[in-house]
Amino acid sequence: MPEHLFRLYLATKNYYMKVTVVGAGAVGATCADNIARRELCHELVLLDIKEGLAEGKAQDMMQTAALLGFDTRITGSTNDYEKTSGSDVVVITSGIPRKPGMTREDLIGTNAGIVKTVCENILRYSPDAIIIIISNPMDTMTYLALQATGIPKNRIIGMGGTLDSSRFKYQLSQRLGCSAADLNAVVIGGHGDTTMIPLIRHATWNSSPVTSFLDGEQQKQVVADTMVGGATLTKLIGTSAWYAPGAAGAALVEAIVRDEKKLFTCCVSLNGEYGQKDICLGVPVVIGRNGWEKIIPFELNAEEQALFAKSAEAVRSMNDVLKTLA
Ligand SMILES: NC(=O)c1ccc[n+]([C@@H]2O[C@H](COP(=O)([O-])OP(=O)(O)OC[C@H]3O[C@@H](n4cnc5c(N)ncnc54)[C@H](O)[C@@H]3O)[C@@H](O)[C@H]2O)c1
Repeated sequence: MPEHLFRLYLATKNYYMKVTVVGAGAVGATCADNIARRELCHELVLLDIKEGLAEGKAQDMMQTAALLGFDTRITGSTNDYEKTSGSDVVVITSGIPRKPGMTREDLIGTNAGIVKTVCENILRYSPDAIIIIISNPMDTMTYLALQATGIPKNRIIGMGGTLDSSRFKYQLSQRLGCSAADLNAVVIGGHGDTTMIPLIRHATWNSSPVTSFLDGEQQKQVVADTMVGGATLTKLIGTSAWYAPGAAGAALVEAIVRDEKKLFTCCVSLNGEYGQKDICLGVPVVIGRNGWEKIIPFELNAEEQALFAKSAEAVRSMNDVLKTLA
């Protein structure tokens, strides 16, 4: 192909992408809205099991195209997977959300069956898709998706740490009175109120450690507020949050379709990294066109390593529940 045509192809290739979002509820619709507004793909399919819901939300979003100036074509589908055919990236948000007082883990019985069936249906029509799992309990759903599909591990990405890290930056920005965009801060480990590990020792405000601006008590409070970030919102709203979860899902889609090689904390399959095997857990990874492309080893001190091992133990016992489900 002549050089100028090849350059044109490269310039437009991201645009000619197809993305599917399964689950047209609060998180799925918000994620789709973010994807469309940023024109991350040419074609976007929203699918839900509830009759008419995805079609209705897709039409509603398309009616913002003239106002917002995007050309992404959004269509809805009631459980017809043929319409998702040839998707490059699929975001799975289907399942029940938690209500006040519930943990993410309480959702396993219902959501395991949903996530497994959805993955099978998706791969029937999009065998090469990269799958982003959002449904909770996310670490266990990511593990289940990997076990159930057997596709290469780099194509299954759990979204939890991306959201938790953004919430961590929010908490830090409130304490420091600074822009969240000037902060580097990651949350590793499981995506649960007690399993996530906000790495405050590693967090920086531009290049200065945040620990030089916050005393021990303030640091502890930021970590604690981050860990209950989701539960706090569930209590206030009456159901689980969607703006930041939807935006976090779209940020991962963007990193894949634009081959950004951006560093995010995502739940991925570990094979000895961070001292763990046969588990999917949140660690810093590079996200690009091939899904998660490499795991970045952060240097953890003894306390952080112990927290990571404890987090893995809790997620592993949740994964064991899968064996008891029919
Ligand atoms: N990983 C994260 O960081 C994170 C953050 C927020 C929410 N969540 C989880 O995301 C999930 C969705 O949350 P929500 O607030 O959007 O819930 P929601 O109830 O608003 O939407 C869920 C949608 O899934 C659909 N659905 C159910 N079974 C389906 C199936 N078999 N096929 C297709 N669609 C199906 C429902 O009809 C519903 O529209 C929940 O499990 C929630 O806990 C995860």
